[in-house]
Amino acid sequence: MASYRRDLAVRAAVAQGLLATGAPEAPGATGTPGAPGTPGTPGTPGAPVVALLDTAGIRASAAALTGAFAAVSRGEVLHAFAVKACPLVPVLRLLADAGIGAEVASPGELALARAAGLPPSRTVLDSPAKTPAELREALALGIAVNADNLQELARIDALAASAPTSSPLGLRVNPQIGAGTIGALSTATASSKFGVALRDEGAREAVVQAYLDRPRLTRLHTHTGSQGVPLTLMAQGVRAAYELAEEINAKAGRRQVDTLDIGGGLPVNFSSDEETPTYADYARLLAATVPGLLDGRYRLVTEFGRSLLAKHGTVLARVEYTKTSGGRPIAVTHAGVQLATRTVYAPEAWPLRILAYDSEGRPRAGGVTVQDVAGPACFAGDLLATGRALPLLHPGDVVAVPDTGAYAFAHHYAYNSLPRPAVHGFTLAGDGTVSFVTVRPAQTPREIVAEAGGAHADALVR
Ligand SMILES: Cc1ncc(COP(=O)(O)O)c(C=O)c1O
Repeated sequence: MASYRRDLAVRAAVAQGLLATGAPEAPGATGTPGAPGTPGTPGTPGAPVVALLDTAGIRASAAALTGAFAAVSRGEVLHAFAVKACPLVPVLRLLADAGIGAEVASPGELALARAAGLPPSRTVLDSPAKTPAELREALALGIAVNADNLQELARIDALAASAPTSSPLGLRVNPQIGAGTIGALSTATASSKFGVALRDEGAREAVVQAYLDRPRLTRLHTHTGSQGVPLTLMAQGVRAAYELAEEINAKAGRRQVDTLDIGGGLPVNFSSDEETPTYADYARLLAATVPGLLDGRYRLVTEFGRSLLAKHGTVLARVEYTKTSGGRPIAVTHAGVQLATRTVYAPEAWPLRILAYDSEGRPRAGGVTVQDVAGPACFAGDLLATGRALPLLHPGDVVAVPDTGAYAFAHHYAYNSLPRPAVHGFTLAGDGTVSFVTVRPAQTPREIVAEAGGAHADALVR
């Protein structure tokens, strides 16, 4: 279904002129890597690269998340989308409309959540380096704050003493359960920078005491997942947090910790359109591993990011030129490091699929050729795929890069001053007609200059 919607959207993006007209195929170019293409018509509308978001897909993921936890949990659950995964205001508004709150980790993300209309009661602030000013703002708004460490708790004590707050307060712990396959995304290693490292000498006792000293500390937070971490390891991390909450409550002689924030981290399948593992898989695993978490005594907060958005974003880029180098066919496109930064710098950890379409946006079928798919940036490593077997690409073709809705095109990398591309949301009518709306316009050259100090051009020569 996702691929059906995507194919229609690619065709419509070309037909409706969102993507600039491609270079017509040169006669005899078919099957001839390196054949020169005719340049595209100057001045045609549209851009050589755009990003698409599948609105129905995002809604379906939000419903799958809420349904999966509702099926196993008797308590109240707030699903707070990790804004870092797709920091676009219309996306946050769409998710809010689907019943999803926001987890923010910087003043910018908080501003985005507020611009989307998220109320404080559905917003959670986590981050490892909150300044006093950030904390003051969050406490004044009454949004939930998870302190990262005991120093931050002391800072919150001081701020709350001078300006009483209604913010629910929690502390992040690191159960040190170990790494997944991607070191940079493993948050719960023995020496991770996040939270209080629970197994370090004296740490557990210090955390329990911190709760006993602060009756208003009612939440406990952990985030042990993210791409590459097996579900069983994530569930172990949640169990460790649950067991700590039980210990605190037993020592306090009351149910002081009433909310467990179990973070996000459900991994995403980047190798096909299959959405696996599912939220239902994870919810059932939690029910089996930590039954007490879901029996209604605790409120739950989750913070999923990648799994809500990744599958619903697709980058479309024109193939500008094709060539061969050292015998290897290369398609030079307009999508590269600026949109898929992790893939370009760490291709083993972040492989992305590439789908080939012709210049009209029809899927290219037929035999495949091993080729490279390059981006537009001026460094040799700017490759979206190396040695990939695909129908042979031609100048003017469209490549689609699916699964880029999270931590990809919304996270622009400004190398070569390449512009942030437009993001268009799409929906499908019953007859297959595709409608687009602007989620974010493309960045203009004027905006690039402004961001690059254009208003201060003389600053260094005065
Ligand atoms: C505290 C916290 N919560 C939630 C997330 C979202 O994780 P994911 O996008 O893997 O679901 C992250 C990711 O870095 C995080 O640091």
